[in-house]
Amino acid sequence: MHTQSKTGKKMKVIAFAIQKGGQGKTKIALHGGFWGLEVGKRVVFLDLDPQNARAKLNNESLVDTQQTAAIGNLSGTLLDLAKLNGYEIPADGATASWLFEAEDQRKPVFFEENGALIQVDSQLASLNFDVNTFPEKMAIARAKFDALANDFDVCIIDTGPGNLYPLIVALGLSDHVIAPCTMDDNAIAGLDSLTANVLEVRKASGMNFDLAPLGILPNKINRARSRHMQSLNALRKTSAWKNHVLPVELFDRGAIEESSTRPVWRTQRGETSSSAAATEMVKACMYIYKMVGLGD
Ligand SMILES: Nc1ncnc2c1ncn2[C@@H]1O[C@H](COP(=O)(O)OP(=O)(O)OP(=O)(O)O)[C@@H](O)[C@H]1O
Ligand SMILES: [Mg+2]
Repeated sequence: MHTQSKTGKKMKVIAFAIQKGGQGKTKIALHGGFWGLEVGKRVVFLDLDPQNARAKLNNESLVDTQQTAAIGNLSGTLLDLAKLNGYEIPADGATASWLFEAEDQRKPVFFEENGALIQVDSQLASLNFDVNTFPEKMAIARAKFDALANDFDVCIIDTGPGNLYPLIVALGLSDHVIAPCTMDDNAIAGLDSLTANVLEVRKASGMNFDLAPLGILPNKINRARSRHMQSLNALRKTSAWKNHVLPVELFDRGAIEESSTRPVWRTQRGETSSSAAATEMVKACMYIYKMVGLGD
């Protein structure tokens, strides 16, 4: 069990990352944060995936269409939740590029009493770091996290494909990385690229950040498909990643696909759901929380 966090404080940072798209990062990141709220933790979500950021072309450069920036998948869901909960979204709330500007004092936006969001903005898609500026940006981001750790117990980071730097920042800042992975050879190969790219940037920039331990969470498994079951078995028993695969998994469930502002373990009436999707998701979340030292 890891009791020490990178910020040196109580807050644990869990990033959801894998370079291949569509593996379940956003969906499981949301559930991971919802679980923290469920068990009484203070949770801040950081959306570092600009792929759905809404921007328009203006004199050849991309600009945000709204002052408070763009709506990504995770950001959009949590902003919807804020609306449902009757929380106003301040125009001066923090957006993801806050992370890299030392002077930027904006604050996370609350969508419920214990849950807050740093939403994505389209500037993130065009971050122009290089190996020389990266250490400085990383130091700024670290200081921002030290401050967040005074107010929150858990930070959930959602990452996306595309610009590698936000992903590497996420990996450098987090205490644990969860890589949801479907039973697809390309996705599994993407785990190699993820690690190789992080190591490359670390070496080129001369930075000495610790890599967070990686936990692979098999996702979207269809029990009726023998290839899925064979791939799962190979991933756990014989693959190069076998020691990183979590002993929990998620099956392909319509209820997970359809869940949005409400986690699968809550019914529309707010009661606890006893569906298979709910049971599996709770088990995975409980495992992850225990692993990162946030379990009871
Ligand atoms: N266990 C599951 N069962 C059924 N559907 C799932 C499951 N996990 C994820 N999904 C669905 O799969 C799709 C991709 O998931 P998600 O958007 O979370 O992936 P992602 O890794 O964040 O993708 P991207 O890299 O594009 O950001 C979504 O429609 C999501 O609802
Ligand atoms: Mg996503």
